[in-house]
Amino acid sequence: MLFDVESFSKKAPPFLKWAGGKGKLIEQIDYYLPIELKLGKISQYVEPFVGGGAVLFHIAQNYHVERFLICDFNEELILVYRTVQQDVDSLVKKLAKIESQYFQLSWEGQKKFFYEVRSQFNASHSTTDFTKFSADWIERAAQFIFLNRTCFNGLFRVNSKSEFNVPFGRYKKPKICFKDNLFQISKILQATEIRYGDFTSCEDGIDSESFVYFDPPYRPISQTSSFTQFSKSDFDDDSQIRLASFFQKLDQKGAKLMLSNSDPKNTNPRDRFFEHAYAGYHIECVKANRMINSDAQKRGKINELLIMNYSQL
Ligand SMILES: C[S@@+](CC[C@H](N)C(=O)[O-])C[C@H]1O[C@@H](n2cnc3c(N)ncnc32)[C@H](O)[C@@H]1O
Repeated sequence: MLFDVESFSKKAPPFLKWAGGKGKLIEQIDYYLPIELKLGKISQYVEPFVGGGAVLFHIAQNYHVERFLICDFNEELILVYRTVQQDVDSLVKKLAKIESQYFQLSWEGQKKFFYEVRSQFNASHSTTDFTKFSADWIERAAQFIFLNRTCFNGLFRVNSKSEFNVPFGRYKKPKICFKDNLFQISKILQATEIRYGDFTSCEDGIDSESFVYFDPPYRPISQTSSFTQFSKSDFDDDSQIRLASFFQKLDQKGAKLMLSNSDPKNTNPRDRFFEHAYAGYHIECVKANRMINSDAQKRGKINELLIMNYSQL
């Protein structure tokens, strides 16, 4: 295995908390990365469900890849990545200011500050042009990062009016301004094309020299863990099947592919959903610490699937 745990701690980790974030699964994912990537023979890394970007940042800082293509259906998240890409200096200044203001406040004051920022963030949603970079993006991206670091569990949830409605989290000293980290990530994003939209919108950018890692919203492992609603999209079984067809299509293009999801056998040993959807592909079962679950009792080790169109042998 080419993986060295020690070296990872010196590299920039994700700056956002993200439901389903792959930070805890990175060792297992690394182990199963295609040999072509490890040998520097992959020219492009693609992540169509980028979320907090744990795998993107890991690959960018440990392997030699010329360019990156990322996508997500969450327009606020995409605005943040594009801001880090286009004007990280202004963003870091704004975050440092928010951080110092926040830490000077009492506990009650911090809570009030959080709800004020949340109201401002929601009030400016309708007037934000998500398609064109402007100075307004700096403010919005800083508000998003602040809310992400200080809200309950770092969740991103919006109501039917697209208003962010996650309550204040109880953190003693949350890290808000990741200065060095953001600069390092901004460098990675200089070589990255950032798209907003459905995972299929990456198709035209993928060729036989690409490695694609798919981390879609989980297929719920039980009735009580429906953490499939990340933004407005509801990723149901039809979407999982649509994704499996897309996987097949990219396989025919010659790209190397890996996909992760929860193992339905965690709760129903007879559920063969992924074996059917990905028949003929290589499926590995790995152990994961699932961090975000509606049921605190179920935060232990559960099985996750890694599905690949290549074999490690
Ligand atoms: C499990 S998370 C990815 C987590 C990421 N790997 C990480 O380490 O943080 C799934 C992501 O898919 C996005 N998403 C949901 N539906 C989508 C769709 N149809 N197309 C693209 N992205 C989608 C969500 O906004 C969310 O960020």
